[in-house]
Amino acid sequence: MNIVVGVTGGIAAYKTVHLVRLLTKAGHDVTVVPTEDALRFVGTPTWEALSRHPVTTSVHDDVARVRHVALGQNADLVVVAPATANTIAKITAGIADDLLGTTLLATEAPVLLAPAMHAEMWRNAATQANIATLADRGVHFVGPADGELAGGDSGPGRMVEPEDIAAAATALLAPRDLDGLRVAVSAGGTREPIDPVRFLGNRSSGRQGVALAAEAAARGASVTVVAANVSADVLADVRHPSVDVVPVGTAAELAAAMTEAARTADIVLMAAAVADYRPASASDQKLTKEQGPLTRIELVENEDVVAGLAANRADGSALDGQVIVAFAAETLPDAEDRRDRARRKRERKGVDLLAVNLADAEHGFERHDNAVEIIGPGGEVVASAAGSKREVARAIVDAARAMR
Ligand code: CTP
Repeated sequence: MNIVVGVTGGIAAYKTVHLVRLLTKAGHDVTVVPTEDALRFVGTPTWEALSRHPVTTSVHDDVARVRHVALGQNADLVVVAPATANTIAKITAGIADDLLGTTLLATEAPVLLAPAMHAEMWRNAATQANIATLADRGVHFVGPADGELAGGDSGPGRMVEPEDIAAAATALLAPRDLDGLRVAVSAGGTREPIDPVRFLGNRSSGRQGVALAAEAAARGASVTVVAANVSADVLADVRHPSVDVVPVGTAAELAAAMTEAARTADIVLMAAAVADYRPASASDQKLTKEQGPLTRIELVENEDVVAGLAANRADGSALDGQVIVAFAAETLPDAEDRRDRARRKRERKGVDLLAVNLADAEHGFERHDNAVEIIGPGGEVVASAAGSKREVARAIVDAARAMR
């Protein structure tokens, strides 16, 4: 994709160096358009070396190719980072006295601003009014964060980290191929109470489920996330106007919430680690050693939620209707053994796709990266993906989308 990165005159420009690297590494064609002031912080050679494109601030260079409008017209996205209070005011007023100004006026691509300024300037009524006007016009914002500012002050106004700006940019570039679809996702791990303070649980953090929800929402879907014991920290990644979060604790609560969410869902992504067994009865008082040693807990089997959803599918057909994806974390070290187990599991559960990953000390649970193979209806591996949980989510959503 063609991305224009506008850089304006703030000290956070040094962080934009890393943003340009992240975007070019992700395969985008990046053109950097600094303002004159920005060049006081980071110079032309740095931008040219990183983007591999000539860099100018002036509308009078490369006039033959009408550069002052061509850049904006050809862009798939324009990011301005840092966006100073002055630049935000100029964009609001439509002032085009340099190449960045003309590019922003000429573009019909999404525009993403990463504000950076002192807290007082951010809070100023003029800045807030400009932000509101731009948001009304559909301009997107990422940040600012609360934190340490130049000169030792602190407060809102700090530019968010390059990784966050890159993620926001990637979300804006995502295809809107799930527009109008509803997606139900389960995330996290259930906890089955033993007594008021103890439970049987598992190590699932909910990160993969949350990444699936974020990916589906970025692509236009309305998403319900049934979140089993997912920390607020992990859930922060899925704050999005078209995502609803339903917190649950036990497998039975998850079953009820997923059954409700799946009723209207086009795609069901069952990423939660659901306890197969629960204590036959939970004590309503804390168990103590005074009652004598505890040597056994009687367990009863939980219903298989995803198998139930697959069996009750309204139309019974995978191809025209709802697509259901189950997940399996397997510890078998041999990949072909894992695939075989996954094939049997997919059939037993009656789901369309099963994403299988290796779960051992280095892979899977509680980690930021993941690697999965997706088993299709014929037992074949329809896709595989390795990388961040978001990258893995993309492949899983692609496979589910392709089935519809
Ligand atoms: N699952 C479910 N309900 C359960 C247990 C699991 O819906 N009670 C779903 C999980 O959300 C996941 C898949 O089934 O999508 C994982 O199944 P797994 O626990 O690996 O399979 P089991 O049927 O428990 O098989 P086994 O214990 O033999 O591995």
